[in-house]
Amino acid sequence: MVEFTLPKNSKVTEGKKWPKPQKATKITEFRIYRWSPEGDDNPRVDTYYVDRHDCGPMVLDALIWIKNNVDPTLTFRRSCREGVCGSCAMNIDGQNTLACTRAIDEEKAPVKIYPLPHQPVVKDLVPDLTNFYAQYASIEPWLHTVSPTPEKEWRQTHDDRAKLDGLYECILCACCSTSCPSYWWNSERYLGPAALLQANRWIKDSRDEATGDRLDNVEDPFRLYRCHTILNCAKACPKGLNPAKAIAEIKKDLVDRQI
Ligand code: SF4
Ligand code: SF4
Ligand code: FES
Repeated sequence: MVEFTLPKNSKVTEGKKWPKPQKATKITEFRIYRWSPEGDDNPRVDTYYVDRHDCGPMVLDALIWIKNNVDPTLTFRRSCREGVCGSCAMNIDGQNTLACTRAIDEEKAPVKIYPLPHQPVVKDLVPDLTNFYAQYASIEPWLHTVSPTPEKEWRQTHDDRAKLDGLYECILCACCSTSCPSYWWNSERYLGPAALLQANRWIKDSRDEATGDRLDNVEDPFRLYRCHTILNCAKACPKGLNPAKAIAEIKKDLVDRQI
């Protein structure tokens, strides 16, 4: 069940129906969440019609087309347009995903677009990820060492490098954390799948010399053990990663160090 964190005392209303493009022969309808912190208006869902012969194939192309041709006030984040920056994460037809890698033709019209669920909204499709980034910072995502700095680089064997596969590819889009029921209800105290996958990325790094401290940092009934292996996170990840597996590995490391 996807829910959205709405501004206080508000409900989502039917919004504006924007005109259809003239002379277009292939049109797709989009229904898009709109809310602005300016004024007291309720959130609304606006309807837009996109001329598919004048627009690229991806959902992000449609949003850019709408912004350029219909409604310049429509607000969303995007940068790379090729699935590597994570900024265009949003909820498309009930699924958290990246707008730039999701083809319009994969969706059933009308295409329904909302911000990532269970986060405060800055405006329209832009969620406030302040807490998400603070949790990422709390796992100290950089190399910790006590050995003297080598003259060249910190070396790794090929096998040790391979242990980071499935972890280093995370682009911090927040699709997983915002699809995790445990995170919805405890996002102040539970780190969530993205931050925990990143924690595991540093725990597994053969060059890092603070593994014990890192395990201490997450060993907590809320920070780590709120994961109940529901697996929404793995289903949501647009990069095909498995945060639930990474969390299980951390739990196993915690058991192993007691033996
Ligand atoms: S497996 Fe854990 S992190 Fe993933 S959705 Fe379930 S509770 Fe959340
Ligand atoms: S694990 Fe996947 S869904 Fe989660 S933040 Fe990283 S890339 Fe996004
Ligand atoms: S714009 Fe960078 S991931 Fe979509």
